[in-house]
Amino acid sequence: MIKVKIGFVGTGRVGSTIAFTCIQQLDVDEIALIDIVENLAIGEAMDLSHAAAGLDKYPKIIGGSDYKLLRGSDIIVVTAGLGRTPDMTRLDLATKNAGIIKGVAKKIVQNSPKSKILVITNPVDLMTYIMWKESGKSRNEVFGMGNTLDSMRLKRILYEFTTKKIKKAWILGEHGNSMFISKGLIDVESFPDLDKILSNVRFAAAEVIRKKGATFYGPAIAAYRMINAVLNDTKEEIPASVVLDGEFGLKDIAIGVPIILGKNGVEKIVEYELTQEDLENLRNSANLLKEKLKELGY
Ligand code: 2OP
Repeated sequence: MIKVKIGFVGTGRVGSTIAFTCIQQLDVDEIALIDIVENLAIGEAMDLSHAAAGLDKYPKIIGGSDYKLLRGSDIIVVTAGLGRTPDMTRLDLATKNAGIIKGVAKKIVQNSPKSKILVITNPVDLMTYIMWKESGKSRNEVFGMGNTLDSMRLKRILYEFTTKKIKKAWILGEHGNSMFISKGLIDVESFPDLDKILSNVRFAAAEVIRKKGATFYGPAIAAYRMINAVLNDTKEEIPASVVLDGEFGLKDIAIGVPIILGKNGVEKIVEYELTQEDLENLRNSANLLKEKLKELGY
């Protein structure tokens, strides 16, 4: 019987909410929660195990600060790092979180070398690149959650503008201020007010952070969809942050593009026919991220 194990590095509000979502939505045999604050990880493990019992589920749930606990994880979800205050951009976190992610990458590879890695830590495109670079893993095994969440927000905001539940509406590019609505990948003929909608999506997280201190339900569902795609090999098509090596004319950068996610991680980068405007926006976003990577020494 193949055991399904999810590891978490970082058990703050985002990491623990993702774990809570996975316990409800997935059949998992084991969950390992790692945090630099050991008691936080142990407490979350206990609380989550009680919740699981309420659903007649009895997965092994362990918490601590020793990365050995991650051994054998099918996928490891990384939220370790600082969160931002409303007046910060995600890029403002880059320097501090780059150092954290570099250390996390090494310890993951030492303890659970075969795991796929889902990066949540912001700025997620840069952290995904650094995780890939420092872990030495192949590009299909490391991916970041950014545009999946942005696209969820876009669908909601489009619904509020049009009362239409739009099946495909994708945000691509940086999970940050240079993100853009892909006009080639949206089921909407005429846009009610595209600039306003995009601005609402871009600044949604900062608005939530301003009001409640952090976002975690949106990130949790977005992360759950990606974890589910890997564990259940759904081959779901979603936008996510992945390392490019020539796709869309871009190399040596991680950025939000359409992918197919399955048991092998990034099964395919889908080079849809993006509009000329989409491609220009993607290149602009990539150039901004490359500048930042250079500042970080990559
Ligand atoms: C968000 O957009 C945390 O970057 C994450 O909510």
